[in-house]
Amino acid sequence: MIPDHVTLVDVGPRDGLQNEAQVVAAADKIALVHALQAAGCREIEVTSFVSPKWVPQMADNAQVLAGIQRRPGVRYAVLTPNLQGLQAALALPRARWPDEFVVFGAASEAFSQRNINCSIEVSLQRFAPVVAAAHEAGLKVRGAVSCALGCPYQGAVTPDEVEHVVRLMKQIGVDHCGIADTIGVGTPRAVQAAIERALKHYPVGEVSGHFHDTYGQALANILACLQMGLHTFDTSIAGLGGCPYAKGATGNVATEDVVFMLHGMGIATGLDLDLLVDAAAAISTVLGRAPVSHVSRAVLAKRAAAAQVAVS
Ligand code: HMG
Ligand code: MG
Repeated sequence: MIPDHVTLVDVGPRDGLQNEAQVVAAADKIALVHALQAAGCREIEVTSFVSPKWVPQMADNAQVLAGIQRRPGVRYAVLTPNLQGLQAALALPRARWPDEFVVFGAASEAFSQRNINCSIEVSLQRFAPVVAAAHEAGLKVRGAVSCALGCPYQGAVTPDEVEHVVRLMKQIGVDHCGIADTIGVGTPRAVQAAIERALKHYPVGEVSGHFHDTYGQALANILACLQMGLHTFDTSIAGLGGCPYAKGATGNVATEDVVFMLHGMGIATGLDLDLLVDAAAAISTVLGRAPVSHVSRAVLAKRAAAAQVAVS
């Protein structure tokens, strides 16, 4: 039942860097994408086409998307809440288009209002033409269901509320359903209950988990999903991440920590852990702090100890 291969979608350049108080230069964002693809990442969420007034950190979206030296076999995704964002991305030359768009809704009405300034119902009306236009252009659309395990404004969120949005996304033709624990409050059985609802509408290959690690539950939640056969997860290099509209929510589960667990279980990812640690160290240096990830800290400490022995 547990899959022998897992695909990780690295959302660090988008989910991670959207949340930084400091301005990160487009060149550093592009370098991060290059480091991720060098480490074997085959799916990368590179930026978002949202209002620069709402999220100024992503205002350089076109520059970042256009500046990446693409590798064959890598899929590049961008977020958009509406047609305006899709049109801005598709205004780039064809070779610079994203491979996928991500529309992001919420299982909680309150979070929908705070994050995208409209109700769940209106958000779906805005996503529908995005899906149609993306499909017309031959591109895939993933849907993110935020606050599927709890909402910073509403509190508890039920599996029924999750399924309501999943069903609406399926009805408008969204190809893939990502169940997101925006504030990291989910625990394994609650996560399985939410995923079960997604699996009523999408095949297991088109359901993924997106777990912020605020309460340290993300690895356990991923294991709970693996037990249900899920084999796609969003993770974030160096544990970067958060959402500007979910204050206090910390980063996504770190890619390195998930890779360490999966490889330890004999599950292939196609990712090189040492190169991931290099990528985590490089972006953390740009941000002026150490990586949040347990594994990066451990590997970097081990490397530093080995270097000390070598010089002594
Ligand atoms: P609004 O103010 O209601 O939008 O915001 P509007 O349609 O009235 O337009 C207002 C202004 O925004 C106009 O500009 C538009 O042109 C502009 P003005 O005339 O004032 O100069 N605008 C845009 N500009 C660029 N690109 C666009 C775009 N759309 C409108 N696509 C809106 C509504 C949705 C735009 C706004 O609320 C918004 O941008 N929200 C984004 C919030 C966001 O990015 N949140 C973080 C990502 S979601 C996340 O992190 C969760 C996730 O990781 C999963 C999880 O963990 O839960 C995915
Ligand atoms: Mg997120």
